[in-house]
Amino acid sequence: MNRVLVIGSGGREHALAWRLSQSSTVEQTFVAPGNAGTALEANLSNVVLDVSDFGAVIAFCHDQNITLVVVGPEQPLVDGLVDALSAVGIKCFGPTAAAAQLEGSKAFAKDFLRRHQIPTASYEVFTEVAPAKAYLQNQLFPIVIKADGLAAGKGVIIAENMAEAESTIEDMLADNKFGEAGSRIVIEEFLQGEEASYIVIADGKNFIPMATSQDHKARDNGDVGPNTGGMGAYSPAPVVTPEIDQQVAEKVIQATLDGMAKDGHPFIGFLYAGLMIDKQNHAKVLEFNVRFGDPETQPIMTRLQSNLDELCLAAIEGRLDQVSCDWDERFALGVVMAEKGYPFAYDKGNVIHGLNAINDEVKVFHAGTRLADDQITTSGGRVLCVCALDYDLKQAQNKAYQAVKQISWGSEYYRTDIGFKAIK
Ligand code: AMP
Ligand code: GLY
Repeated sequence: MNRVLVIGSGGREHALAWRLSQSSTVEQTFVAPGNAGTALEANLSNVVLDVSDFGAVIAFCHDQNITLVVVGPEQPLVDGLVDALSAVGIKCFGPTAAAAQLEGSKAFAKDFLRRHQIPTASYEVFTEVAPAKAYLQNQLFPIVIKADGLAAGKGVIIAENMAEAESTIEDMLADNKFGEAGSRIVIEEFLQGEEASYIVIADGKNFIPMATSQDHKARDNGDVGPNTGGMGAYSPAPVVTPEIDQQVAEKVIQATLDGMAKDGHPFIGFLYAGLMIDKQNHAKVLEFNVRFGDPETQPIMTRLQSNLDELCLAAIEGRLDQVSCDWDERFALGVVMAEKGYPFAYDKGNVIHGLNAINDEVKVFHAGTRLADDQITTSGGRVLCVCALDYDLKQAQNKAYQAVKQISWGSEYYRTDIGFKAIK
């Protein structure tokens, strides 16, 4: 029997660990560091581990005879956790540091896309203010300016006019307002259309698409307000038609896996392409993530019926062409409950009420929560993701919101329209 360690503490990791722990091949699942949700889950155990200390992770894996490590967030992937564990013979699911540059450096990703002729917005990369400003002279507005490095979803600015674009360039390149991540920038064409997430599991050569999904990145109803990590998601997403599915599988995903292999960095892990789909149904890559989406993971894992432990091992061993992936036919819809103020400053430490009243039809994944003295308190911006399943998306939405209304901590905030694009 297998023993699994999941790295991370968000809603994505709760959903991955929950699904892994239900695999028939898994006897025990640990989460480092986890959250209150993973602490309370019958088949999961939290572990206090500093996951940036690779030596400590290796020691824990040896000590506990861990047979599979699944890395949730991007930072440890970009920092080389997979390389470190693989080097000592521990099976670790996720891309190497070299392959993780697809997310770790936007300039790397854009140059990769251009070199391999994969559709994306036109762009240039800059490290100096003057040439960046000069480039703006011949561009249309709005224009998109991106900090090169990891910026926790805050590194993308859509500048409406020249003045805003120039000040963003100065903030990033001269005034260091985005830290090291902004010492190099990508300036790119603004694309119009509808956004979709396309997520696959890849073994370096082959891939299996995960169920389709759509995130809601803006904070407020109707897709307005500041950009966030994601305020809710549902799966499947009708925006990804069979035609788009085929186009993206071939021209984006397979082309990316082939390109990465050719460049000497075969990609193993979850690969997430953020896409913009235009009126002519052409998909262009907005960004890559080298991990599962959060909150897309929560509704997608709610629907996964296959053995996730086996899928991850098959990916590591390069035999994804020999396995398949089955999905619950029903829609899953997840509503993120956040602390008021998110994605800016917010309160922490509020006691969450109502979790016990939630019925079995709904699954509440935790993100920024903490368990202390038998109380569950808020400890992050995105606190919970409340997921429900139904054959009808509207019904799934109703069920999720009925549960949301039973949960409170005084300063909760959530969108009330998750799924609206598919429920017209
Ligand atoms: P990213 O982190 O690169 O996905 O960017 C965050 C968000 O900014 C995306 O989800 C889009 O809503 C928006 N965005 C990024 N790049 C573009 C683009 N070239 N055109 C229009 N919107 C964009
Ligand atoms: N939900 C978007 C992301 O995980 O990047």
